[in-house]
Amino acid sequence: MALRILATTSQPSLVSLPWHVPLDEWDDRVTVSLPRGLSRHIVRFVRLSRDVYAVKETREAIAWREYRLLRDLRRIHAPAVEPVGVVTGRKARGGDELEACLVTKQLSASMPYRELLSRGVRPDTMPRLVDALVVLITKLHLAGFFWGDCSFSNTLFRRSAGDFAAYLVDAETGELHPELSDGQRMYDLDTTRGNLFGELLDLQAGGFLGDELDPHDVVDGVLERYATLWRELTSPEDFATDEMWRIEQRIARLNDLGFDVDELDIVTDWDGASVRIQPRVVDAGHHQRVLQGLTGLDVEENQARRLLNDLNAFTATLGLQQEDPAQVAHRWLTEIFEPIAAMAPPGRRTPLEAAEAFHEILEHRWYLSERAGHEVDLFETARDYFAHQPTASETATVAAVEALPDSAAPEPSPTRTSAPGTGAPGTSATVPS
Ligand SMILES: Nc1ncnc2c1ncn2[C@@H]1O[C@H](COP(=O)(O)OP(=O)(O)O)[C@@H](O)[C@H]1O
Ligand SMILES: [Mg+2]
Repeated sequence: MALRILATTSQPSLVSLPWHVPLDEWDDRVTVSLPRGLSRHIVRFVRLSRDVYAVKETREAIAWREYRLLRDLRRIHAPAVEPVGVVTGRKARGGDELEACLVTKQLSASMPYRELLSRGVRPDTMPRLVDALVVLITKLHLAGFFWGDCSFSNTLFRRSAGDFAAYLVDAETGELHPELSDGQRMYDLDTTRGNLFGELLDLQAGGFLGDELDPHDVVDGVLERYATLWRELTSPEDFATDEMWRIEQRIARLNDLGFDVDELDIVTDWDGASVRIQPRVVDAGHHQRVLQGLTGLDVEENQARRLLNDLNAFTATLGLQQEDPAQVAHRWLTEIFEPIAAMAPPGRRTPLEAAEAFHEILEHRWYLSERAGHEVDLFETARDYFAHQPTASETATVAAVEALPDSAAPEPSPTRTSAPGTGAPGTSATVPS
């Protein structure tokens, strides 16, 4: 059988990869060094022109299944890695058949959880990772996706205004349904509980968890937070007809959580004295969409929320409330955001990096202003912030890859660890002593 590459994009250089060589023998002329999570299959990263891809060697049926599911997830805008193609019909030079490969786009600026925790991050990191994971499972469940193998290892994390945003990376066991039953959701949560507990014990054994974190509590916290969020997003609400403002209030609350309401089912009782509303929430990323509509910036949800707050403050300070919001947003973009982003070192100028830096600069201004006893200018703050950037930040791996020439970097051992305590990000790390 001939080598066959089915790909979503025209990336002709995919053909040039050494498909006749088993993946674990690909050397550093082809692969790039990036941290990976734990996995059963062999996964390698390659760089083709400007983009980095993840290649996973697996059985053909699995590769196809995962490819299709990832395409489905993309269609419904679920946070997951982007499928690029499936490579089949691989044969070694000696004629032996080789396993198929699934190719996905490397999720830029993302990190596996082990990488995050091995950098000696702050003690409040675990709850923020858990929150991001809960939001991810909830979004997937709302979209009718049964994951079947939710774990930290099958998730990637991106920084998002001091918090994290989680993405699904491994869809092998997933199923997409029109809607999930309560039983399916509970079953998925049971698997999640087991997987996370195992991973947390593993982290504890490796000394990465810290004494104050009990794996039981963390796992219980996941289930509690999921239940609360699910209730808030989906449960019906009853009130009297003279309290119609509560409809708007509920929508505002859902928007605040980052979700948009697709449909609102409003039912009044027979005498018209009370109303029941049942929101149908589908789309997460409310602030992302608002910001993108106003400025074209495509960033993470929490980053978007932060930038919108700053845009609102800009509008209020200059008394522009009556002006066209799109024009005000354009002024804010060109007079504030872009000039600040341009002050960043080259590795931090992508929209995601710039948005994260902007968030940290706002935090830094708060600190500087408090110390100075008056509001410090934003540009002055940014100069101070960039001048005191830690040398090794959580963005270092990403920046390093951006700076790499095509296909040129040593491959690390599968579980990469760095010295704890290096490069913890955040405002505190940027404050001059
Ligand atoms: N598109 C991608 N972007 C970034 N990292 C990826 C991507 N695909 C895989 N990885 C990394 O490889 C690891 C293993 O991938 P996964 O699909 O979970 O393999 P397995 O099916 O063997 O569990 C992930 O935890 C992640 O760190
Ligand atoms: Mg996996």
